[in-house]
Amino acid sequence: MMRKLMKSVRLLQVAGIALVGYIGLFSAPATAGGAHNLGPKASCMECHEPEYEVYKGTQHFKSFKSKEHKKKGKKIVKAVAKVNGGKKNMKRNKACALCHFTIVKKKPKYGPSCESCHGAASEWVEIHNDYGGKDTKADTETAEHKVKRHKDAAAAGMIWPRTALYEVAENCNSCHGLAHPDLSGDELSTMLDAGHPAKADFELIQYFNGSNRHRFYPPNPDVNQEMTKKEASTMFVVGHIAKLVSATEAAAKSKHEKFTAMQQKRADNAKAALSKVSIAAVKAFVKKPTRANGLKAVDAIKGKDLSGEVGSMLPKKSDYK
Ligand code: HEC
Ligand code: HEC
Ligand code: HEC
Ligand code: HEC
Repeated sequence: MMRKLMKSVRLLQVAGIALVGYIGLFSAPATAGGAHNLGPKASCMECHEPEYEVYKGTQHFKSFKSKEHKKKGKKIVKAVAKVNGGKKNMKRNKACALCHFTIVKKKPKYGPSCESCHGAASEWVEIHNDYGGKDTKADTETAEHKVKRHKDAAAAGMIWPRTALYEVAENCNSCHGLAHPDLSGDELSTMLDAGHPAKADFELIQYFNGSNRHRFYPPNPDVNQEMTKKEASTMFVVGHIAKLVSATEAAAKSKHEKFTAMQQKRADNAKAALSKVSIAAVKAFVKKPTRANGLKAVDAIKGKDLSGEVGSMLPKKSDYK
């Protein structure tokens, strides 16, 4: 039932029909419709051990137990609780939990984790690795089945980075750009007034290629591959497309001065990077930065080598986080 619903929503989306709330369905970390999180350790680690090991070294993982964090958060959550009527506790107030935690069975169990980026997995986990029954392995799966498997998993809320990098970047930006679609302008701007960091500089290459990088394909648990300049250039551009959509959508939520200034800075950063790209669909997108135009721009750069255009803007390795 759920799967069917997700599929029809996705179809409408493909057809370009605006659907109120669909951004909430697909880009809100951890809530694809009725889908819920299963948790990284219980549900991903057994098959994705190398990725899990990488995850354990990230700030996303470590922040869950940080006492320092809890202390710094007290004043912020108090202020926000006044606005949204929620609890004065970072783990219990929705406005903090949406970005800081992975909610499993209604409880915050981890910091941001696998499903924050790849989509809440309850509806897709059993589809994404099923090559067509027990006796079929990756190398005996039919081509048709593979296409169907990818499509079904995506319709059930899975975000495959190889085919949906935009959606992954959208997730990162909704948290890192203080632009979560499920939070109001009042909640977000109150956080800023209470001292929450307002960093406009989130950029996918700098933030992914350091402690977060996990690139073990083609399956080899021993080699966490670096990106080529071409791959990094594509990710850099896709990341900025997602950033510009995110900043534009967020800016419309509030007229609060600090909040607007942050979103303006994010938009300006993204425009500066995208101005180097000479592809028409990217130029059209920058003029009218809607999500639909963003997806068209992402489509238009597929397979192209953009390193000549943005290669010199890529962050240095020593700046990776
Ligand atoms: C029972 C084993 C198993 C479990 C459990 C599992 N996966 Fe997978 N996963 C696989 C296999 C096998 C593939 C490769 C599928 C293919 O060949 O296309 C895969 C592929 C993926 C990919 C795409 C990789 C690519 O090729 O681009 C992602 C992302 C992913 N899994 C995330 C997760 C997350 C997140 C969880 C936990 C919620 C999870 N998986 C749980 C076995 C598993
Ligand atoms: C829209 C997503 C989002 C929401 C909502 C959010 N945070 Fe954050 N928070 C972040 C991100 C991203 C960072 C890390 C910023 C960075 O260092 O790049 C962060 C960092 C922090 C820090 C660390 C500050 C420091 O100086 O080390 C604290 C404390 C914090 N948040 C508290 C809260 C509290 C309390 C709430 C709820 C009222 C909350 N946050 C809501 C995304 C969010
Ligand atoms: C901060 C966001 C984020 C988190 C958290 C995250 N991933 Fe990923 N993941 C990505 C991105 C982005 C890529 C694409 C990398 C690329 O294209 O080079 C990716 C790629 C993958 C792949 C394909 C590449 C590979 O290593 O084989 C798998 C499988 C995967 N992730 C599984 C997981 C699992 C399991 C977890 C949790 C233990 C996890 N991811 C946590 C963002 C994330
Ligand atoms: C569900 C919300 C969420 C998503 C999605 C998310 N992050 Fe984060 N991220 C956070 C929060 C919250 C922190 C701050 C943790 C802390 O310090 O307490 C953070 C911290 C980080 C840090 C450490 C920052 C520093 O200054 O050291 C990096 C790096 C990072 N994230 C990368 C990424 C990347 C790359 C993606 C997407 C591929 C991503 N994140 C997606 C919420 C998120």
